[in-house]
Amino acid sequence: MSIIEAIKNRNSHALMSEQDIDPAGIRRLLDAAVCVPVHHRTDPWRFLVIRGAGRAKLGDVMAAHLAKDMDDPDSPKNTKFLDKIRKKPFRAPVIIVAGAAKSDCKQALMVEDVAAVSASCQNILLAAADMGLAAIWRTGSFTYAAETAQALGFDEDTQLVGFIYLGHSAKEIRQKERPSAEKFTRWLDN
Ligand SMILES: Cc1cc2nc3c(=O)[nH]c(=O)nc-3n(C[C@H](O)[C@H](O)[C@H](O)COP(=O)(O)O)c2cc1C
Repeated sequence: MSIIEAIKNRNSHALMSEQDIDPAGIRRLLDAAVCVPVHHRTDPWRFLVIRGAGRAKLGDVMAAHLAKDMDDPDSPKNTKFLDKIRKKPFRAPVIIVAGAAKSDCKQALMVEDVAAVSASCQNILLAAADMGLAAIWRTGSFTYAAETAQALGFDEDTQLVGFIYLGHSAKEIRQKERPSAEKFTRWLDN
């Protein structure tokens, strides 16, 4: 399959079984993730692999973020809602959290390092498709809160970019219609 075909055939897919992915497979994905363009060679990508019981920790972090803005997080309604949030990471056997670390390089710009880590996330999605795995890039308001990165053990000032949920598909992955870029494109050639 050509690279362009692989790109066009990739589809986000959220319905996954509990079947685990072995660490060697996860390492293959991450080695693909760091093969991206990056300005000033800052190597900003930082990854946290969450699996098994580690998913409960992520659920707690997500729930704590939402509870912060609640007048009464212990009310029956909120308790039920937060319990549902705590279960969200269990939708996949493996979650890779990708973050952009703040660089010491004077010329480095966070916006560029986040762009490089975004490219890493896309590489993970493409590599997962190549390995026959289902994958979806997820975020949510908690993603961009400094306390989320801190609670997950990232260095201070690391900007989280995505939570990539990975697993084996529990349902056939549907191919999307891919649009032409024509209507989003202008040409300046004279
Ligand atoms: C930055 C970013 C954040 C996303 N966050 C979510 C999310 O929180 N939940 C979700 O279901 N999908 C999320 N997605 C995935 C999109 O829903 C998905 O890419 C979109 O539906 C297009 O489908 P495709 O990836 O198959 O082309 C996110 C994608 C990106 C790039």
